[in-house]
Amino acid sequence: MANGTHVLVLPFPGQGHINPMLQFASRLASKGLKTTLVTTVFISKSIYSDHPIASTSFRTISDGFDEGGFAQAKSPDIYLSTFKSVGSQSLASLIKELGDSGIPVHAVIYDGFMAWALDVAKQLGIRAAVFLTQPCAVNSIHYHVSRGLLKVPLEGSSVWLPGLPELKIWELPSLIYHHGSYPAWFDTIVNQFSNIDEADWVLVNTFYELEKEVVDWMSKFWKLGTIGPTIPSMYLDKRLKHNKDYGLQLLHPNTSACMRWLNTKPNGSVVYVSFGSLAEVGVEQMAEIAWGLIGTNAYFLWVVRGPEEPKLPDNFKHMTREKGLIVRWCPQLEVLKHGSVGCFVSHCGYNSVLEALGLGVPMVAMPQWADQATTAKHVEDVWGVGVRALADEKGIVRRDTIKQCINEVIMGGERGNEIKKNSIKWKNLAIKAADHGGSSDKNIDEFVAKITS
Ligand code: UDX
Repeated sequence: MANGTHVLVLPFPGQGHINPMLQFASRLASKGLKTTLVTTVFISKSIYSDHPIASTSFRTISDGFDEGGFAQAKSPDIYLSTFKSVGSQSLASLIKELGDSGIPVHAVIYDGFMAWALDVAKQLGIRAAVFLTQPCAVNSIHYHVSRGLLKVPLEGSSVWLPGLPELKIWELPSLIYHHGSYPAWFDTIVNQFSNIDEADWVLVNTFYELEKEVVDWMSKFWKLGTIGPTIPSMYLDKRLKHNKDYGLQLLHPNTSACMRWLNTKPNGSVVYVSFGSLAEVGVEQMAEIAWGLIGTNAYFLWVVRGPEEPKLPDNFKHMTREKGLIVRWCPQLEVLKHGSVGCFVSHCGYNSVLEALGLGVPMVAMPQWADQATTAKHVEDVWGVGVRALADEKGIVRRDTIKQCINEVIMGGERGNEIKKNSIKWKNLAIKAADHGGSSDKNIDEFVAKITS
C-alpha cells in the first residue's frame, strides 16, 4: 500500500462514466493506493458484476432518488439539482464516516460532471482531482464556452480554437450547437470549469499522443495529466492479469450467444453496431439502419437495448436471421477484440471510440448528441480511423449512406486500407501509452507520487 493513501473515486452515475473511472481506480490500486468507488444508492442496487473486483472497495451516496435514480426524477433539471444538494451532504457524511471508522480519505477524484464534489472536498480540507471523462478537444470547447471565449448561440459557420482543426459549427458538441436544447445538461458541462482552478490535479481520459496539440494548450492553465485510455489492462498493455473487464454493468450482456455466433463467422466479416447505453434512436432512423445493414450483405451484430426494440421494422429479426444477431447488451470489449469483427458502427460515445482505437477496429461514425459529433470529426479527419455517415437535412442518416460507409470500411479499397492502417497505428500507440514507461503510465506514476507525498 503506497503510504496507506486512500482515494475516493466518484463517477457520474452512468455506464459511460463508471467504466473509465472504475478502470482508473484499478490502475491506482495496482500502484498501491487504497481505492473506494462511490456510486449512488440506486446504481448500487441495479449493478451487475461478472467478476468481483477485489482491488477496489465500494460505498454509496444518495442522489435523492434511491428508488429509481435518473428515471425517478421528473426532469434532468430536477435530477441534477437534487443530486447536487443531496449528494453534497451525503458525500460529506460518507467522508466523515470513513474517517471515524479508521479509513480516512486522503483525496477525492471526482467526475467533472459533479463539480460540487470539489467544494465538498475543499470544505473538509481534502485534496481533489477532477477527472474529465470526455476527449480533451471537447473539454477545450466547453472551457471556451464557460469562460465566454466562445459565445453561444454560435455565430458564423466555423470556429477555430487553439490546438484543434477548423470545426464546422455542427461538429461542436450538440449542447453548444443546439444551444438551449438541454439547459440543465448545458450547465453541467460548462460548470466543470467553474471551480476547476481550485482542483489540485486535472486528469483527462485521453493519451498525449492522441491529442497532443490541445493537451499542450490546456496544460498552460493546469497541470494536466493524460491517463487514458482507461481500458481494462488485458485488452491493452496486459500488465494487470486480473484486469479483464470493467467490472460493473448496468445491463446484462448476452455473452455466450454473442461469442458463439461470432466464432462461426469469417475474419473481418462482421459489422458490429451499438449506440451505447443512453441514445434513443428514432423509429425512422432505426429503419434506415436496418435497411442499410441488409443492403451491405455483411454479417451484423446489433445491440438494441430493450426499450429500443419496438422501433425495429416488423419482421426484421426473422428476415435477417441468417445474417444478423440482435442482442440487448453485449460484452463490447470481447466483441471488438474478436477477429470476425471488421467494422464498428458507433454513436461515438467516447468510451466506445477509445475501445475501438485501443483494439484497432475501424469505425463508421453516427453521432447522436452531446460530445459525439466532435469525437466523430476526430475519428474521420484527425485520427483517420473511420468514416462519418452524414445525416440529411431531416437529421436522418439514410440507408444508402450507411451501406456505402460500411462497404468503404469493410471491403478495403484505397480509403478502407488507409483506415485499417491508421487503426493499427493508433492501437499500438494506445498500448504504448498505457504500458510501462508510456506517457499515461508516467502521468499516473507522477499522480500517485504526489498524492502519497
Ligand atoms: C455517455 C455519452 O453518451 C458519451 O457521449 C460520453 O462520451 C460518455 O458517456 P454512452 O452513450 O453509454 O456514454 O457511450 P460510451 O461512452 O460509448 O459508453 C458505453 C460503454 O458501455 C462502453 O464502455 C461500452 O464498452 C459499454 N457497452 C456498450 C457494453 O459493454 N455493451 C454494449 O452492448 C454496449
